[in-house]
Parts: sequence; structure tokens; C-alpha cells
Amino acid sequence: MTDILTAIAERRSAKRFDPNVTISEAELRSILDAGRKAPTAFNIQHWRFVVVSDPALRKQIREVSWNQPQVEEASALIILCADFKAWEKNPARYWAAAPDKMQTTYEGMINQFYSGNEQLQRDEGIRSCGMAAYALMLAAAAHGYQSCPMDGFDFKAVGSLINLPEDHEVVMFVAIGKKAAEYPPHGGHLPLNETIIHNRFS
Ligand SMILES: Cc1cc2nc3c(=O)[nH]c(=O)nc-3n(C[C@H](O)[C@H](O)[C@H](O)COP(=O)(O)O)c2cc1C
Repeated sequence: MTDILTAIAERRSAKRFDPNVTISEAELRSILDAGRKAPTAFNIQHWRFVVVSDPALRKQIREVSWNQPQVEEASALIILCADFKAWEKNPARYWAAAPDKMQTTYEGMINQFYSGNEQLQRDEGIRSCGMAAYALMLAAAAHGYQSCPMDGFDFKAVGSLINLPEDHEVVMFVAIGKKAAEYPPHGGHLPLNETIIHNRFS
């Protein structure tokens, strides 16, 4: 197992994967489990992870993903989708393991926070999938795999290929596998002093 800071420092987006590598059910399950443990506002867990194992479907998805090889070559292709309406689908279940009073309180807060605010419902879904995506990628690294986050695809076409429900949206892919080519040169990281603002923007 790689420690977290090393995994973060060494992570790169892989552009080619070895198509002959099979990820075990146990490894994939452990990676997906890490994604599921990422945080969500009010614990609504509105991500849905579509694991595409069907080679014919992978091929079709590649065709609407600028022909990017990772889509077919990856040992696992996970499509992260957000259920924007999860907040109104029996929200008490997101607090089922907590004491009754907490469950009722959170149910009320969830309803008040999201009701009538479509923009927030959507933003929240994107935020949560971003959190989950990185958790998936770091968990993949812990298991010795490389990954690639992806949004270079036709969102509508992918949605239709996976029978996306009306109230869900495709957010991004995470492709996982063993890299089969050296990483291309990196674009570089902005310096810390440009990235960090102390207290306020000037
Ligand atoms: C939301 C998102 C979408 C991306 N989409 C693609 C993609 O479609 N294809 C690809 O090869 N890389 C994609 N990348 C990878 C970026 O190009 C890469 O993260 C960036 O250049 C920094 O390189 P690094 O990840 O190796 O540090 C994506 C990254 C993110 C976060």
C-alpha cells in the first residue's frame, strides 16, 4: 500500500492502459468502496458509479469520447453520475444509522436546503462526484493501479448509451488500469503563492 502523500505526489493521468490487465473483483470493490466513503453535504450520497464491463458498450462509449483509448483499454471504467433529485427521495435513509432525532432533523434540513433550488441541487452533485472521483483515483493508486479522470466525451451520447435516468447527469469518468506508456510531459503546477489567497482577494 502506498501512503497518501506519495500517492498524491506521484499521481499522473494515464493516457494508455495495458488492455490485458484484469482487475480483480476484490480490488475493484475496494476502490468503489473508497469512492462511496467520500463526503457529501448532508450525507446524501447522490453519486452513482456505473461500472462499464461490457466490451461492446466500452467500444460504443469510446466512439463518443474522441476515440480516447483509455475508455477501452482501462481495466475498469467508472462513469460517475449524479442523482440531482436524491435529496427528495426518502432522505431519512441517509441518516438511518443515526439516532431517530438526528434523522428527523437532517430530513428537515435537507428538504429546506435543496427545495426549489435547482442550481444548488446540480452544483452539489458535481461537487460530490469530484470528491468521489479523487477518492477512487487514490484508492486505485493504493492498489498499484494508475488512473485517468475524463470529461472528453459527448455527455448526452454517453447518457443515452447507459440509459441515464432523466433526473441524473453524467459528471465524469474515472478510468483505472496499469499504464502502458510513459506519461506525457506535465503542464506544470501554478506556484503556491498564486494558488493560495490569505484571507481575502485584494
Ligand atoms: C475533470 C477532468 C477531465 C479530464 N479529462 C481528460 C480526458 O478526457 N482525457 C485525458 O486524457 N485526460 C483528461 N484529464 C486529465 C488532465 O489532462 C490532467 O489531469 C492534467 O493535464 C494534469 O495532469 P496530471 O493529471 O497528470 O497531473 C482530465 C482531468 C480532469 C480533472
